[in-house]
Amino acid sequence: MKISVIGAGYVGLTTAACLAELGHTVCCADNDEGKLNLLRKGQMPFFEPHLEEIVVRNCSNGRLRFDNTENAVTGAQAIFICVGTPPLENGEADLSAVANVARTIGQRATGYCLVIEKSTVPVQTGQQLKRQLQLYAEKGLRCDLASNPEFLREGSAIEDFFHPERIVVGVEREDVAMLMEEIYRPLLDQTFICPIHKDCKTGKTPGWVVTDTNSAELIKHASNSFLAMKISFINMVADLCESVGADVTQVARGMGMDTRIGKAFLNPGIGFGGFCFPKDVQAFVRIATKAGCDFSLLKEVENINKRRIDRFVEKVCKELWVIRGRKIAVLGLAFKPNTDDVRFAPAIELLRTFVREGATVSAYDPQAIEKARAIVPNVEYCSSPLAAAQDADAIVIATEWDEFRTLDWNAVKKVVARPLVVDGRNMFKPAEMVARGFSYVSIGRQSAAPELQSTELDSAIPEVTPNGTVKAL
Ligand code: UDX
Repeated sequence: MKISVIGAGYVGLTTAACLAELGHTVCCADNDEGKLNLLRKGQMPFFEPHLEEIVVRNCSNGRLRFDNTENAVTGAQAIFICVGTPPLENGEADLSAVANVARTIGQRATGYCLVIEKSTVPVQTGQQLKRQLQLYAEKGLRCDLASNPEFLREGSAIEDFFHPERIVVGVEREDVAMLMEEIYRPLLDQTFICPIHKDCKTGKTPGWVVTDTNSAELIKHASNSFLAMKISFINMVADLCESVGADVTQVARGMGMDTRIGKAFLNPGIGFGGFCFPKDVQAFVRIATKAGCDFSLLKEVENINKRRIDRFVEKVCKELWVIRGRKIAVLGLAFKPNTDDVRFAPAIELLRTFVREGATVSAYDPQAIEKARAIVPNVEYCSSPLAAAQDADAIVIATEWDEFRTLDWNAVKKVVARPLVVDGRNMFKPAEMVARGFSYVSIGRQSAAPELQSTELDSAIPEVTPNGTVKAL
């Protein structure tokens, strides 16, 4: 099919590239001409595993091109709306970009087209869109509307596109659902060749969920909010574990074996971040309030999440006694591994807090340094974990990159001022870090420390000078 995708962000660019890979002829549009030029040269505006190779391949075989929105909508059979819906001051989604695309479709689309909303939008947005598009009916526009919420995760977006657990399609008529089926046919029939695992043609067929448009829109917000709730729930269980001497890893394992609960999203830590969960939970609370429902459960999910950073900083403070004048090395800046996205990343909040409290902060991330530097400049960004750890009084793990699992911790121990790891993501078993000679503090588990030798006692007690800096006795 001849498909246009409006918006070249995480969702739009991934969708456009993957639809082209499935065999469609795709035009991806954005109003940022600079971004389009980069993409035409094969340069990605963000890091996402496998994306670049798929974009480059499909641009060279002619199935994918980049253009402005006006040109993209002209003559398209199907138009995916994938523009941003950022939060307004009051937490509601800003739908102005969606409305602008609808206007352009009304003015420029020709013949029949299927308009598909993929951006995360409040329930009933589809109905509004439909009304707006109908204004152009007398100019000859014939269109239908479908809601097709996106569930892909950053860092595994390509994998998620080709192997989704379900595809949700909200439509008003059965024949519109059939058009949507045409678009996703290769995934539904498992006739595509997966660009990541070339030999996995016999993957699981995704669930095909056809609903009305309101329900499809709600599925997206309800799903993300539910997952966020699981995270806040396990974070509170973790706090309780610390107080009563239990181990949250064991508790989560025992809970997750019940298939009604499921083991996913029960990893405690420094809270959920990223551009989706915080904004979607907030928007869902607003949607419910406007509809007359007080979703107080979700308000508490947000509150618990907001308290994670302070609680974590308290842990670091308890170990270091005072933060002012200490050197803290933060490993991991992205809101989760395998992405360079630092939007609403807990790690960024940590950097800001440590800097504000007067610490000297060094930081390392395999992908996200440049994006972090742009928001928190007064940090020493390093090219390796070892460089960041140099003379550090504490190493703080804020993102669970695989690279940290395989780090040469013996080498790290040699360069730090004090062998202390405060792990916000529970990457290691406490005993294993103690065996490497580190004091190890994590989330929802008991802290562990090697036996202190008398010669090491001195450096464990800091001296605070009158100007607030700290030095070992
Ligand atoms: C999320 C949804 O998973 C996806 O379906 C939707 O399309 C967009 O929003 P994403 O934001 O890419 O995807 O990240 P996700 O992997 O869901 O993680 C979100 C946050 O929750 C991260 O900060 C992560 O560190 C945190 N998290 C996740 C936990 O703290 N504990 C967990 O057990 C799982």
